[in-house]
Amino acid sequence: MKVCVTRRQLLAAAGVAALGLCGCLRKEETGAQLPELILRYAENQPEDYPTTQAALAFAQLVEQQTGGRVKVVVYSGGELGAEQSVIQQMQFGGIDFARVSLSPLAGYIPELSILQLPYLYKDADQMWRVLDGSIGDEFLGMLDQMDLVGLSWFDAGVRSFYTREKVTTLEQLQKLTIRVQESDVMSGMIKDLGAKPVQLAYSQVYAALHNGQIDGAENNWPSYQTMGHYEVAPYFLQDEHTRVPEIQLASIAAMEKLEKLDPAFPEILRDCARQSARTERKLWAKRETDSEQELRRWGVEVTVPSKEEKKKFRAAVQPLYDRFEQQAEILERIRNT
Ligand code: GCU
Repeated sequence: MKVCVTRRQLLAAAGVAALGLCGCLRKEETGAQLPELILRYAENQPEDYPTTQAALAFAQLVEQQTGGRVKVVVYSGGELGAEQSVIQQMQFGGIDFARVSLSPLAGYIPELSILQLPYLYKDADQMWRVLDGSIGDEFLGMLDQMDLVGLSWFDAGVRSFYTREKVTTLEQLQKLTIRVQESDVMSGMIKDLGAKPVQLAYSQVYAALHNGQIDGAENNWPSYQTMGHYEVAPYFLQDEHTRVPEIQLASIAAMEKLEKLDPAFPEILRDCARQSARTERKLWAKRETDSEQELRRWGVEVTVPSKEEKKKFRAAVQPLYDRFEQQAEILERIRNT
């Protein structure tokens, strides 16, 4: 049976609790275990998106594995705020869990940006060898510095540019204003490519494309589709410049509350996060292909840059690597993984 915890179900549970309090309906009569701890999970993608579906799977696992004592309520569609604000709220325990892109976290721990440098991985398999291995664990551990707990890695595919007007070459891109995530590395990448970066929250991109504040943006196929960006920027330059992994996070406060309830719960929860990450990866693979096919059918005009053109993109971002020369050792380890 599917037991996804949405707010509606939570309200129903609260109703049952209220009845219990007034003595009309006791726990034994309903057979339902009322949660002792209710935790909030923030997700900025809509309900049907792979990361949200994985969050709901996580909530379901947590409920099952804690015998119904812990309930995780998933707020999707950015209801608890944009990623930057969610991260800040988590640092003081205002939000218990979230799935966020690596980009905004790298604003706090610049070293994290290494994992999202343009053209870093040969392909998705290499990125997963890195994230699933000791390097991935080391980077998750770095989140301690922000008083956050890194639980697991989620897939977010590969990002490409899309624009209001047709763009097929680096030279044409250089004239444009491009939205980037709230991340200095992403801004740096756009500057190195010769275009003008504008940092905007994800939820603001559609309007900015629509009113011409920006000429283009960059993201993966599912985001391009789900946010409707293709309607206002129907030219897709499939340069695949970067893979930005995503992280499932917990607040320290949430882990402490779980520990207090039962010392075994923090590890159970970590395990639920790892399982939901595997779910996400499967859902992602399908959604990435489906979105690309659907958008091509819809009429998005896709340009795949030639090898020669791609070389120009790679050469242009070299200065970004020079800024990470202190991290030469870890970059070498990634390349050899
Ligand atoms: C992806 C990612 C989001 C992020 C967005 C962005 O869609 O899943 O979490 O906010 O990129 O470009 O801001």
